[in-house]
This record gives sequence, structure tokens and C-alpha cells, in this order.
Amino acid sequence: MRTQVAIIGAGPAGLLLGQLLSRAGIDNVIVEQRSREHVLSRIRAGVLEQGMVDLLREAGVAGRLEREGLVHDGVCLAFADALHRIDLKALTGGKTVTVYGQTEVTHDLVEARQALGRPSFYEAQDVALHAIDTDRPRVSFRIGEEAQELQCDVIAGCDGYHGVCRRSIPENAITSFERVYPFGWLGLLVDRPPAAPELIYAHHERGFALCSMRSPERSRYYIQVPQNERVEAWSDEAFFLELRRRLPVEIAATLVAGPAIEKSIAPLRSFVAEPMRFGRLFLAGDAAHIVPPTGAKGLNLAASDIRYLFDALREHFLDHSAAGLESYSARALARIWKAERFSWWMTGLLHRFPERNPFEQRMQQAELDYLVGSPAAAAALAENYVGLPY
Ligand code: APR
Ligand code: PHB
Repeated sequence: MRTQVAIIGAGPAGLLLGQLLSRAGIDNVIVEQRSREHVLSRIRAGVLEQGMVDLLREAGVAGRLEREGLVHDGVCLAFADALHRIDLKALTGGKTVTVYGQTEVTHDLVEARQALGRPSFYEAQDVALHAIDTDRPRVSFRIGEEAQELQCDVIAGCDGYHGVCRRSIPENAITSFERVYPFGWLGLLVDRPPAAPELIYAHHERGFALCSMRSPERSRYYIQVPQNERVEAWSDEAFFLELRRRLPVEIAATLVAGPAIEKSIAPLRSFVAEPMRFGRLFLAGDAAHIVPPTGAKGLNLAASDIRYLFDALREHFLDHSAAGLESYSARALARIWKAERFSWWMTGLLHRFPERNPFEQRMQQAELDYLVGSPAAAAALAENYVGLPY
């Protein structure tokens, strides 16, 4: 079997790249280790930067997003029992974010790929990369008992943090940078109206909390929990009791609880692997970097990686120029590190760090007070939250 681009992973990064390549007439095959149903069942992020919305529109998959996405002009910070609105639109000269679940983005991309009839191999086992430092790379895998081999010109490693692609690069050819946070997020999805019209990021001495949403009828909540916490330890009632204790009274009083339709714990880490290329293998999305979800950047960084990688591949295959591929890693990393900084900063601002000393606790309080009292500080948060330019 042969193709121009072998895409490893059918998450948002792999699917979006496949959609853009297909529309440009560049042959591609997706190899995914899980089932389509499993990929579509994942509950992940929910805030899209305008750059990602524009890219999904360019890919021809923004129809439902434009009908159902919720455009938000602002976001709220809560601490000391008070709400502070950050007017994103006013502070950024008109930029906004769109609330639309990653699950929906994935669904729209899967549906579009099926409509194009492009090849995807789901439930691929023992995926392995070969000859990635030559001009004839290959991907081997198994579907059931049947061995498959895919010859290609380029491999796009879109297989996430635990994937095989980054691990296929020789250790002396890649450098990792990592910070693991001493806590996780316990998330709950519920078919009840959101606690407020906009997202609320709450700092509290008991821990961080986030009130988000998927639609006017479906809400997404998170509370900070210790690193080794088990989801079984949390009944729905215990979750909502703790959530309410971390929110301003006016919000806690009107928040509508209900039975969880999904409940899970995600660890928090910052991670970057450099460079994002080895020979004919190019990493994109979570395969190359992870951010704590506080800044809502994970999905949006996957989108900007795919913007750069698609442009580079189109230049390579259609204009016969290697310039884009040569500069891909440096160009993507320039934006990634700034989003890593913002996500790390926002995580440090809003979470409870038990190991911090009293001075550091005061620094956190001063940062919050400065942020809500200074238009310049609020503008800095706003321009990062809506997304720095591609
Ligand atoms: N072979 C093939 N596919 C693999 C392999 C492998 N060895 N390992 C992992 N995969 C698949 C996973 O099953 C998953 O479907 O690669 C896909 C990677 O998708 P994501 O983890 O969603 O990563 P990405 O597409 O970069 O999207 C980043 O997803 O996890 C969130 O928070 C993250 O919002 C961010 C977004
Ligand atoms: C979500 O809705 O899942 C969400 C929103 C904002 C974040 C993280 C997650 O920062």
C-alpha cells in the first residue's frame, strides 16, 4: 500500500490534517490504534480560538460549529467570593473565543472524512515506523491478524502524548522539557444549564474550580483534586457540594446539579519535545507538547501545528519546495512555547499549591489583585486567552 502522507492518530490533529490534505488533492492515509467509537466518545476541551475556527472553516467542516458554537466575548475570574469579568472583546480589539466541544470537532472531522471516502485504518495494532531518516519511510501495523505495510513520502505523528511516533525518534535527536503538577482535574459533564453565561475560573483556598459548558443545556465542571485521587471516591453529590464551596455564593446558590453523564480525572503537565521533526517524521499536537488545560490551549495548539504543517506539505508536494518543512519545527515551537508559558502562568495563578510558603501564597494573591485592577494586566491575559497570532 502507498500514499504521500501517512497520518498516525485520528484525534483532532490527525483528522484536521487529513481533511486539509484531501481537499488539496494530497493523498493521505490515517492509522489509528483505537476504534472510531472510542475516539468519538472522548470528552476533552471546549474552547476554540478564532484561528482554529478559521482553519476549520477553510477545511470545510465548520457548518455545525457556526450553527451551534457559542461565541463568548468574555470570561470570569472568581476569588474572595467575588466575580471579575475579563472583557476579552474590548481588551483585544474585537477578538472572541467559541465554546464548542472537542468531541464535536472530532465528530465533524470524522464525518467529513467518511464523506470524502479517504482511507482510515482504525483498531490498528503494533503500529511501527521504519526508515524515517530516509526518503522512503514506512509504517507497519496489524488489522486483526493481517499484517499491513504503508509506504509513504512523509509521516505525520499525530498520535498524542502516549503515541509511538515521538518514541521512534532516537533519544540523542530529541530533547524533552516537562513539569508535572502536584494535582489533577476531576471533570464532570451534566445535562443541566450552565452556572453562568460565560466561563468562570475560580481560585479558592480549597482548590481551583472551573464552570464551563457545551451548550445552553449541557455543562462541564472541573475541580482541582490531589494527584493520586480516584474518580470512584467522588459521588455526584460530593462533587457538586465541593464545587459550590469553591464558587462565589451568588453562583453556588443558582448552580443546577444533576446526574453525571461523564466523570473523569486528568493529570496536569507541561511538556514540550524539541525538535518536532526527524527526517521524514513530523510531530504535531499532543505528540509534541502538552499544556495544563487551564488556558484552554491544547486543542488550539494542535490546530496551529496543523496550520503550519499543512502549509509546509502543500509547498512540498504542489510547489516542490522544502522550505516550509525545513522551518516547520522552529515556526511551530515559537508559538507553542508562548502558549506553554501562558498555560503555566494561569495554572500557577489559580490553583492551590500546598507546598508554597506564606510569601509565595501572598504573591499569588497579589497577582490576582493586580490582574483584576489593571487594564494592562487584564489585556495581557486576554490576548493570550483569545490566542496569539499564528
Ligand atoms: N498508533 C496509532 N494511533 C495512536 C497510537 C499509535 N501507536 N497511539 C495513540 N494513538 C491515537 C490515539 O488513540 C488518539 O486517537 O492518536 C490519537 C491522538 O489524539 P489526541 O491525543 O487527541 O491528540 P491530538 O490529535 O494532538 O489532539 C490534541 O486532544 O487530548 C486532547 O488535550 C488534548 O485538546 C488536545 C487535543
Ligand atoms: C472545557 O469546557 O472543557 C474547558 C474550558 C476551558 C478550559 C479547560 C476546559 O480552560
